[in-house]
Amino acid sequence: MVDQVTFKAGGNDRAYNVLTGSVGPQVVDIRKFYAETGMFTFDPGFTSTASCESALTYIDGDEGVLLHRGYPIGELAEHSSFMEVSYLLLNGELPSGAELDTFKSTITRHTMLHEQLMTFYRGFRRDAHPMAIMCGVVGALSAFYHDSTDIADPTHRKISSHRLIAKMPTIAAAAYKYSIGQPFVYPDNSLSYTGNFLRMTFGVPAEKYEVNPIVEKALDRIFILHADHEQNASTSTVRLAGSSGANPFACMAAGIACLWGPAHGGANEAALNMLHEIGTPDRIPHYIERAKDKNDPFRLMGFGHRVYKNYDPRATVMQQTVRELFKELKVTDPVFEVALQLEDMALNDPYFIEKKLFPNVDFYSGVVLSAIGFPTTMFTVLFALARTVGWVAQWNEMISDPNQKIGRPRQLYTGPTQRDYVTVGKR
Ligand code: CMC
Repeated sequence: MVDQVTFKAGGNDRAYNVLTGSVGPQVVDIRKFYAETGMFTFDPGFTSTASCESALTYIDGDEGVLLHRGYPIGELAEHSSFMEVSYLLLNGELPSGAELDTFKSTITRHTMLHEQLMTFYRGFRRDAHPMAIMCGVVGALSAFYHDSTDIADPTHRKISSHRLIAKMPTIAAAAYKYSIGQPFVYPDNSLSYTGNFLRMTFGVPAEKYEVNPIVEKALDRIFILHADHEQNASTSTVRLAGSSGANPFACMAAGIACLWGPAHGGANEAALNMLHEIGTPDRIPHYIERAKDKNDPFRLMGFGHRVYKNYDPRATVMQQTVRELFKELKVTDPVFEVALQLEDMALNDPYFIEKKLFPNVDFYSGVVLSAIGFPTTMFTVLFALARTVGWVAQWNEMISDPNQKIGRPRQLYTGPTQRDYVTVGKR
């Protein structure tokens, strides 16, 4: 433990305080660095920079630990429910039975969408990627629920948070229904959060839909695994958008846009597509060689992580979930065998060992989601649905933080210095 770090700048020693969190690396407080030295720090991709204080989620990437409000993800995935984890993330403590019931009924009350919002879907092409629809429809929520967009009012913040968590399954299911040309299915508030989503996705108005409790449990667990992951790219995007005072619906749309990328939430779709492309175990060595080839842009999707230099604890639960689901549904998928053998081969390969590349949450999630019946284009949508609670909790934490400022990174300018404008005829 150190109290201060000293930089030598321009012949002067400058001491900077070192902050200590409850657990994790110490943090050098460089807030006055520019004012005192006239220099910026340089850290593309924020590999060494803490952008905020947070009490929500802790990751120890070397040990493969993930805690939400102190509780290990494995324990939450095994014993808890997505609604309970949502309450925990938002409020800091696990709820009592009565608190959980109240929370569930509050969320349930907000599951319907403004009817006018449903007409938005019809403006999209039927073959639009559901994430494109999600960006548009979630962004449009602020046009419908402007009675809860005063971010300085804690009651408004609470109502808009509940609305976002409650409406995301309805929006996601409608994006799917639209793409396959089936009628939208309205929420049934007698069902659980996850059961309701399954019915809105796979049910049709013409028939009664029975929620399969095995599938419901597996999907609820997947939602828990994706609920929050500290300052990842999409969460940082939500915080940055929110730091200007933008309303939460607009901030969530920004988060969804960021999540879509294949290096982030889009990796689950890319990982399953890759496993299908590999097809059979005998083709794995070829893909491993491609992933190692610096001149080939191919990467093993679902492998590697900025923070985890060990097995992603969510991948452990996800692999277990695949096994349980396959056993209980009495199904198999050859792609799971490809995934297991690919993991085994990669983990024994010096390239992956040396770079500490392990399976991440996205490696097995596609196999489970596909077994449940979701098309690959919906995978990232499900990630967005579950991550909404994390985004909302982080956004609330930021707004309540007295140290909060508009996010405004600096840069190392490498463009031309000042020069005179030349009119077009003289160029
Ligand atoms: N396959 C092959 N090589 C890899 C991979 C991979 N999946 N991931 C990293 N590397 C190599 C990379 O080429 C680099 O090598 P070198 O040091 O020789 O240049 C080294 O490992 C470090 O990689 P990096 O890209 O500098 O690390 P990063 O922290 O910037 O990126 C990552 C992390 C997740 C973007 C990256 O590992 C990756 O692209 N993985 C595949 C996509 C993926 O699965 N994403 C999901 C992440 S978990 C869920 C989420 O966050 O949404």
